[in-house]
Amino acid sequence: MPRPFDFFLSKGRETAEAGLAGTEDARVDGKHQPPSTLAALRAENIWKSYEDGSIQVLNGVDFEARPGQTVALCGPSGCGKSTLLHLLGGLDEPDRGRILLGSAEIAKLSRTQFLRHKVGFVFQLHNLIPDLTLEENCLIPTVAAGTPRREALARLHDLAGRTGLTHRLTQRIQKLSGGERQRTALCRALMNRPGILLADEPTGSLDERTSRQIFDLLLDLARTDGITLVMATHDRGLAAQCDRLVEMRDGKICE
Ligand SMILES: Nc1ncnc2c1ncn2[C@@H]1O[C@H](COP(=O)(O)OP(=O)(O)OP(=O)(O)O)[C@@H](O)[C@H]1O
Ligand SMILES: [Mg+2]
Repeated sequence: MPRPFDFFLSKGRETAEAGLAGTEDARVDGKHQPPSTLAALRAENIWKSYEDGSIQVLNGVDFEARPGQTVALCGPSGCGKSTLLHLLGGLDEPDRGRILLGSAEIAKLSRTQFLRHKVGFVFQLHNLIPDLTLEENCLIPTVAAGTPRREALARLHDLAGRTGLTHRLTQRIQKLSGGERQRTALCRALMNRPGILLADEPTGSLDERTSRQIFDLLLDLARTDGITLVMATHDRGLAAQCDRLVEMRDGKICE
């Protein structure tokens, strides 16, 4: 699996600054624009295997999310949800098929062009850095994007307020509860104001009440900011609250 921030940390400053220039999708200058007829995100006939083809995971997946839509991705463990999300987020490449952000095919985008699309990712296992504080973890993507520190801190304080983490900003990750870590991972994914948010079981391994709180928060943040959300989850109750539920089985969509 790819490591978090590899992609961002490999950027030069010029590339990172260009990434702040805006997006060709539904968001311009932080405001939600009227939905276009284009899908925000589309996968066409995606195939993916691991270990030189001996582990076949995705078998011709077709998927799309409209701008501002919230989509739940459900299916049994091992059916390929995380694999698909990683491909949709440009963290890995398909063996065959195309992934499009708006009208642009990811495989043909330069890193600079990819950054303009601002795709946020909440990892299944958080991928936070345990020795760093909540604040430091959340600032990493903004450093990579070249955001001025004052602006990044203002964004963080806003998100921390909305997620109930203000009193935890200077705490190291290893001292946070599971729910606080989930909320930190959510804040980090939203720091660069993504137009698309991919969330891999963002409420997994939490008790029912905390899970519901984090999910409500996620939906509220996505809907308030007009973000296109694709979320893998095993929780059918939560999935039913999304605009659409997409079912995966054996590496295929069976909506
Ligand atoms: N890097 C990898 N190398 C080899 N096999 C992998 C790799 N990543 C995933 N797999 C395999 O691909 C299959 C699909 O994995 P994936 O993580 O996409 O499933 P999932 O639907 O997200 O499952 P879960 O609900 O348990 O998170 C599994 O059999 C898994 O073992
Ligand atoms: Mg998974």
